[in-house]
Amino acid sequence: MSKKIIISNWKMNPTSLKEAVKLAKASDKKDVVLCVPFVYLKEVKKVIKKAKLGAQDVFTEESGAYTGEISVKMLADIGVKYVILGHSERRAMGENNEKVNKKIKTLIDIGITPVLCIGEKERDENHDYLIFVKKQIEECLSGINKNLINKMVIAYEPIWAIGKNAFREATPAEFLEMKIFIKKVIINILGDKIEIPSIIYGGSVDEKNTRWFAEDGEADGFLIGRASLDSKKFKEIVKICETLKR
Ligand code: PGA
Repeated sequence: MSKKIIISNWKMNPTSLKEAVKLAKASDKKDVVLCVPFVYLKEVKKVIKKAKLGAQDVFTEESGAYTGEISVKMLADIGVKYVILGHSERRAMGENNEKVNKKIKTLIDIGITPVLCIGEKERDENHDYLIFVKKQIEECLSGINKNLINKMVIAYEPIWAIGKNAFREATPAEFLEMKIFIKKVIINILGDKIEIPSIIYGGSVDEKNTRWFAEDGEADGFLIGRASLDSKKFKEIVKICETLKR
């Protein structure tokens, strides 16, 4: 049986604790990670039994005079197991590869799994998008201990396929090509004696394309935005993943 990791990214939703708890209870499945807004973490933790707790960002420093920030230690202390890093929506607000690199190292040190998001804005005929993704991987993984690389998850999320304004859906073939490329870049940096991390797909994932990306695209799992806010759709996605053969 295949084992896919299904990571939900609620983003800045829902807008009340009551709804958050309801959604968490409905999404509480094995192999699921619920990345919820900071303010809901503690309450969501109380109601989930099978799913793991995740956050959507963290600050680079451990403590100190950083008004408004949340540290790795704070997240670890309340039971967070996964943190999304370098999401394109955060990169649009100033997150860069250097900061992501620092965050990856602090998370791995404390035993939290970083979910590193990478992906290009658009695809060009000259294939410059490959150079862009390669640079993201190289800079985000710079100085990472090669024995710990399997302690993270890499999410390929082409920006043009994310959200309700997505240009179009990606295809499983496009994902698979990128998965092979990502592996190659990682091996180039760290050598081939490493355990390759899970490489998952994100961008307009729903109950209609899950099987397609898992079977034809060989995705190791999914990072899910909109469909994770609809418990019916989300449960359907989990069900499909449970029945996959590979
Ligand atoms: P989407 O978002 O599933 O709504 O396209 C994915 C993401 O931004 O992680």
